[in-house]
Amino acid sequence: MNQFMYWNPVKWIFGKGTAMQLRDNVAPFGENILLVYGGGSIKKSGLYDEVIDQLDGFNITELSGVEPNPRLSTVKRGAELCRANDVSFILAVGGGSVIDCTKAIAAAAKFEGDPWDFITRKATVEEALPFGTILTHAATASEMNSGSVITNWDTNEKLGWGSPHTFPKFSICDPKWTLTVPRDQTVYGVVDMMSHMLEQYFHNAEETDVQDRLIEGTMKTLIEKAPALMNNLQDEKLRETVMFAGTLGLNGMLQMGYRGDWATHNIEHAVSAVYDIPHGGGLAIIFPNWMNHNIDVKPERFKQLAVRVFDVDPEGKSDREAGLEGIEALRAFWTSIGAPSRLADYDIDDSRLEEMAEKTLFNGPFGNFTKLDREDVVAILRASL
Ligand code: NZQ
Ligand code: ZN
Repeated sequence: MNQFMYWNPVKWIFGKGTAMQLRDNVAPFGENILLVYGGGSIKKSGLYDEVIDQLDGFNITELSGVEPNPRLSTVKRGAELCRANDVSFILAVGGGSVIDCTKAIAAAAKFEGDPWDFITRKATVEEALPFGTILTHAATASEMNSGSVITNWDTNEKLGWGSPHTFPKFSICDPKWTLTVPRDQTVYGVVDMMSHMLEQYFHNAEETDVQDRLIEGTMKTLIEKAPALMNNLQDEKLRETVMFAGTLGLNGMLQMGYRGDWATHNIEHAVSAVYDIPHGGGLAIIFPNWMNHNIDVKPERFKQLAVRVFDVDPEGKSDREAGLEGIEALRAFWTSIGAPSRLADYDIDDSRLEEMAEKTLFNGPFGNFTKLDREDVVAILRASL
């Protein structure tokens, strides 16, 4: 293990009925609230009415219509609303996109200049408005980390950034409000959280037995529970388990003592920046191909995953052979729950492969398990067609 410092100041409020705790948690932060939400799912589910009821007496300004893959233009709109209405606290109600957008708004409201400068790391965020979240979609763990991913449609760039100032003050995770997530988004959520676990599984540190078992156990649980959930999207207990796994997937707990790889996320963000596809859908296609491409870096790691998570029998097989079986099992599992497996599923052909590869190399060769250059990225994308 490498040295680490774990600091996560998010008050994680989890479980059935916890949405009732909203008012008490907002109260310390002043009266002027910006309520941020997406395309309307919270109105259909009834959560919007619940929030408005609980915030009776507060001055509420609304920013609705945050896009999946949230856009810089929306961040700017939100920051203007904060300034114009002297906003003291932002409440994000939605999935990762709404929360990511809120993080950028919170920082942009206190930033002189173009927020793209801190997203591209040309500038540093020194302060941000406080914000909290009610999560409606289990996937990203944005509810319990300081990261945010924003797309600039003028330049076709989708970039992740973060700051110690952009941790939510609290996140309310009540599985009840995820019951309405449609099947396809539920699949993308499961793929995304499993991908976070895989990104963190592929590292070069040693003596990480506890972390390995935490990741393997969480992935195994998802493999067991996700098919049942697909057969009954209204099952609140299954939703609860998946919601818990999603937050654990990227709240820093599974990455103590090493840096995960994260190359696949970088590649997926470049694909989304050009084609605006759902993040989880892109990961389902690209991750197994990243694995195939890199199996020879450390075949024993791939074998361990195959044996412990996918019950591959290693008898008489090389590490590589067992590892390859594991990759096929992962692919088959994701396909079985309804995830896409080829870029062609999103009508993506080879015409913009080079452009996407170029975007992944924004900061040069990347990946912490193994470094990828342009040739590697093009090969992975080509295998994903
Ligand atoms: O906009 P609404 O109407 O709310 O509909 C959303 C959206 O269409 C819908 N949805 C959410 N909750 C629902 C619901 N529909 C019915 N009932 C509910 N309860 O689901 C659709 C997708 O929502 P979105 O927020 O885009 O999904 P997700 O949570 O997967 O977030 C994806 C974004 O997060 C970024 C991704 O790149 C992408 O931009 N990521 C953020 C990370 C982070 N901050 O740590 C890490 C991730 O790896 C990821 O990159
Ligand atoms: Zn992700």
